[in-house]
Amino acid sequence: MNFRLATIEDVPGIIKVSIDTWRTAYQDIFPADYLNNLSYEESEEKWRKRFINPEKNIFFYIAETEAKKIIGFILGGFEQQDLTLKIPGIRKYVGELRAIYVLKEYQRSGIGVKLVKMVVERLLEKNINSMIVWVLKDNPNGKFYEILGGKYIGQKMLEKEGVDYVAFAYGWDDIRQILSY
Ligand SMILES: CC(C)(COP(=O)(O)OP(=O)(O)OC[C@H]1O[C@@H](n2cnc3c(N)ncnc32)[C@H](O)[C@@H]1OP(=O)(O)O)[C@@H](O)C(=O)NCCC(=O)NCCS
Repeated sequence: MNFRLATIEDVPGIIKVSIDTWRTAYQDIFPADYLNNLSYEESEEKWRKRFINPEKNIFFYIAETEAKKIIGFILGGFEQQDLTLKIPGIRKYVGELRAIYVLKEYQRSGIGVKLVKMVVERLLEKNINSMIVWVLKDNPNGKFYEILGGKYIGQKMLEKEGVDYVAFAYGWDDIRQILSY
């Protein structure tokens, strides 16, 4: 297993992980039609843009097998969070874990933790000690963040395809604790 920063050449592999993992992780949350209609090809342009014209202060890391198959990725960043939210104290969470996906057949083998630690190390290099993540309330993988010491700090509504979903925020006041997991 290899962990490294992603490049634009990794886009097809990242899209495959993203869509395949959405289909397994969100099958009881989003409508089947919506998940079935997700298209690798149609996602390509949006994802390529993220590398050609990247948002400021974001970074992607990937996990790949020895055969160079991408099996997981994480998107981290800072100063991206929705500051319009009225959750008390939310502004103090500067770092953000924006997305993490590991293919179902590779889950529960430590890849997720390793990817989170890479984001944490990057944030610490920037002297950022706090982090927030948003996860759908109905996503059982929210437990992953609790195991890593994240504390529930609030919630917001997320609209997708005309349906409102509740998302929970978990926060870490001191992300160094994650490195000792
Ligand atoms: C959430 C996710 C990234 C975790 O990655 P992973 O590689 O499976 O996690 P790890 O193997 O590093 O897990 C480390 C520990 O976290 C805990 N954990 C991970 N997933 C968990 C879950 N679904 N429920 C409860 N605990 C969980 C366990 O304690 C686990 O250790 P163990 O396997 O020895 O019991 C992965 O399951 C995933 O991609 N899920 C689908 C997409 C998703 O929901 N992403 C988050 C959206 S915000």
